Amino acid sequence: MSYEKHAADLMMKYPKVEDLAAKAQRRLPKVAWAYLVTGTGSENLIDRNIQSFKDVTLAPRFLKGELSPKLETQLFGRSYGFPFGIAPVGLTGLMWPEAEVIMAKSARKYKIPYALSTVATETPETIGPEVGDMGWFQLYAPRDLDLNKKLLDRAQTNGFHTLLITADVPTPSRRERTKRAGLNMPPKITPDLIWQGITHPRWTMATLKRGLPSLRTVNTYAEFKNMMSVGAFVRDRLGGNLSWDMCARIKEMWDGPVIIKGILHPEDAEKAISIGMDGIVVSNHGGRQFDGAPASMEVLPNIAKVVNGRIPIIMDSGVRTGLDILKAMALGADFCLLGRAFLFGVGALDKYGADHVVEILKDELINNMINLGIESLDEL
Ligand SMILES: Cc1cc2nc3c(=O)[nH]c(=O)nc-3n(C[C@H](O)[C@H](O)[C@H](O)COP(=O)(O)O)c2cc1C
Repeated sequence: MSYEKHAADLMMKYPKVEDLAAKAQRRLPKVAWAYLVTGTGSENLIDRNIQSFKDVTLAPRFLKGELSPKLETQLFGRSYGFPFGIAPVGLTGLMWPEAEVIMAKSARKYKIPYALSTVATETPETIGPEVGDMGWFQLYAPRDLDLNKKLLDRAQTNGFHTLLITADVPTPSRRERTKRAGLNMPPKITPDLIWQGITHPRWTMATLKRGLPSLRTVNTYAEFKNMMSVGAFVRDRLGGNLSWDMCARIKEMWDGPVIIKGILHPEDAEKAISIGMDGIVVSNHGGRQFDGAPASMEVLPNIAKVVNGRIPIIMDSGVRTGLDILKAMALGADFCLLGRAFLFGVGALDKYGADHVVEILKDELINNMINLGIESLDEL
């Protein structure tokens, strides 16, 4: 049955992304919820990300007659239906089995980009046909360039046209909340985990149907297919030595736009331009990586000043509403990505979840643009 049949009912019950978050928390086992919402250290940055949007206000202009806001957005020479897309999220199937398929289908339907993570639980071969021409690929760059090339070739062969190189994970984050919740790599089956499975039967049934989540894209390169070996591969051979020079070499291997994700300093934005990057994502990884970092919204105006329109600026970290997107664009972003919001949707409503998040954001964007007195996003 299609989302459209349920749309009105779902909009009444869950008119905001935070309503979906509340429902997802009830439906997800404790380990999956902890993995989705965790920050690191004292988790100050999670709150700071949310607060940074509240601190911005926009002064509306009135008496402009009837307004019909337009949401189509051009980025890297492509037309997208909305000024936002779905951020890369690793271990996705832990939150909801086949979440990647659900999000990829939604991306294709609404013409928004979906970025498949290197450490997603589905492969470029599976997701490529689902996402159509809306596929971006996120790279956690392997230490050796041959392996980079293999991964990039797989992504390009399967139709992914835009590359995000994630820069802000120089070492794995501590993420204490996931440790406390009992999420281990490789997973240890404990009585507590079994109890979580029993008390969340829909998640458990769907997981049993798809098979336990594993990093299916990189499985191929690990010595053995078991979780221990894949975990060791991720730890020892993915990331840890990324440099500007390596980004420049990766760019030569990719036929399409290349974007650095995780920029928080104006000098790094300048550096990205100087090595020929096509765009940047101003991001603190949703507060998951370095708790001392600023909110993206705090650094966005200075970065936008330095970039001065030379390349597009995408932003993420803390976006939950259409109004947040308008605020980010008013401070200099050209486009936004949302990570948790889409997983809240899928966790709450599984196959209808990603569509419903797009519909909420669309409604909020249109409503707030009219209230602001603008028809075009350029006016921000
Ligand atoms: C569960 C989870 C897993 C993530 N995995 C990745 C990843 O594999 N690669 C990556 O570049 N960013 C990853 N991120 C960061 C997101 O791409 C994005 O920067 C972040 O979610 C934005 O913040 P938001 O969740 O507040 O929207 C992850 C985020 C979450 C919540």
